Amino acid sequence: MEVPASFVVVSLLLSCFVGTSYGVYFSSLNKTLIVTATPKQGQVLKAGEDKITVTWRFNKTYPAGTDSSYKTIKIKLCYAPVSQKDRSWRKTVDLLKKDKTCPHKIVARPYAASNNTFTWTIERDIPSAVYFVRAFAVNAEDQQVAYGQTTDAHKSTNLFEVQAITGRHVSLDVASICFSAFSIVSLAGFFYMEKRKGKK
Ligand SMILES: *[C@@H]1O[C@H](CO)[C@@H](O)[C@H](O)[C@H]1NC(C)=O
Ligand SMILES: *[C@@H]1O[C@H](CO)[C@@H](O)[C@H](O)[C@H]1NC(C)=O
Ligand SMILES: *[C@@H]1O[C@H](CO)[C@@H](O)[C@H](O)[C@H]1NC(C)=O
Repeated sequence: MEVPASFVVVSLLLSCFVGTSYGVYFSSLNKTLIVTATPKQGQVLKAGEDKITVTWRFNKTYPAGTDSSYKTIKIKLCYAPVSQKDRSWRKTVDLLKKDKTCPHKIVARPYAASNNTFTWTIERDIPSAVYFVRAFAVNAEDQQVAYGQTTDAHKSTNLFEVQAITGRHVSLDVASICFSAFSIVSLAGFFYMEKRKGKK
């Protein structure tokens, strides 16, 4: 049996469209994860130096089996509303694919209902801002199916601040850049000498 080419093309286009138009809305997710993090309300932490320990577990008041589709837990560092103001590139969008609230990945771990803990040194490129921590449970298709967070629904409690590295370790950074440059120059010099020796 012959299948018209146009039919194939249309089907392909349709499947692409369906594939890309599928979207998960944050407001549709249930908060079934209990997430805590070590920073205290209002604490100021230094990027590249200080650590955050995150723990998470399934809230057992939800019926057993609610978590049967959970495959992976993704822990994210998220901007609090005060650090999103006038910054469209950090905007919260209910459609998670377009959401910019939580751009900083802390860790991804296979799902377990309890005994989950992870200690993260705040990465050096994390900008100065006020943050909270959110966890997403994703299924085998990598779609978000549930969440939990260290703050309340209004994102107003348990917020902490990260101070970026800029202006703190500048001298150290300059020293390491100079050192790298020196290594490259000496390596180049070494090869040059070797080449000259080879020619002789
Ligand atoms: C959230 O919970 C409700 C009620 O238990 C359930 O009907 C719904 O499917 C859940 N949503 C998701 C995304 O799992
Ligand atoms: C667990 O879920 C229930 C029902 O949604 C909620 O009332 C309770 O506060 C949650 N427990 C924690 C520790 O968040
Ligand atoms: C969690 O850890 C404790 C202590 O390490 C252990 O006794 C317990 O069995 C663990 N629970 C699960 C569900 O792995």
